[in-house]
Amino acid sequence: MDIRVFLPRDRDAVIALWEACGLTRPWNDPGSDIAFCVSKPESTILVGEAEGPENTKRVVASVMCGHDGHRGWLYYLAVDPALQKGGHGRAMVAAAENWLKSRGVPKVMLMVRPENDRVRAFYDALGYAEEPRVIFSRRLDGK
Ligand SMILES: CC(C)(COP(=O)(O)OP(=O)(O)OC[C@H]1O[C@@H](n2cnc3c(N)ncnc32)[C@H](O)[C@@H]1OP(=O)(O)O)[C@@H](O)C(=O)NCCC(=O)NCCS
Repeated sequence: MDIRVFLPRDRDAVIALWEACGLTRPWNDPGSDIAFCVSKPESTILVGEAEGPENTKRVVASVMCGHDGHRGWLYYLAVDPALQKGGHGRAMVAAAENWLKSRGVPKVMLMVRPENDRVRAFYDALGYAEEPRVIFSRRLDGK
């Protein structure tokens, strides 16, 4: 798998990947999430490409990363369900960490829904520590 920065032509494949991985939610429009992320210098989407049919390449993994001037954050980590458990998730997280590190970001954080035990086990295997914090939020877009 080759990892590179998202290009506009990846949009539909990335959304399809997120849907296949159960990452989309009715209140988050994935197209708007992509457009907002890639329009800012502090954030990016990295995609993993693997060989597709007839020497084509296809998007098989993604991670959104960025920083808020203090901490780095990961979102939308996804690996094609047919290719999971092959080290691609670990590689995508490492690439996102490098992207953040190269910008001087000292710490990376992410949120996992509490029922998502599999992803907790994944981040545990990558050396991430679970921190006892409560997240407060409020919408600013009137939704
Ligand atoms: C989470 C996800 C990205 C992991 O990708 P992956 O390619 O399967 O993970 P890797 O093969 O790189 O696994 C890395 C390590 O995590 C461990 N791991 C992965 N999935 C695991 C699971 N379900 N249970 C326990 N450990 C797991 C692996 O054993 C591996 O450890 P090792 O290298 O010591 O053997 C993938 O399962 C996925 O896309 N899930 C759906 C989307 C999702 O929930 N994203 C996260 C949103 S917060």
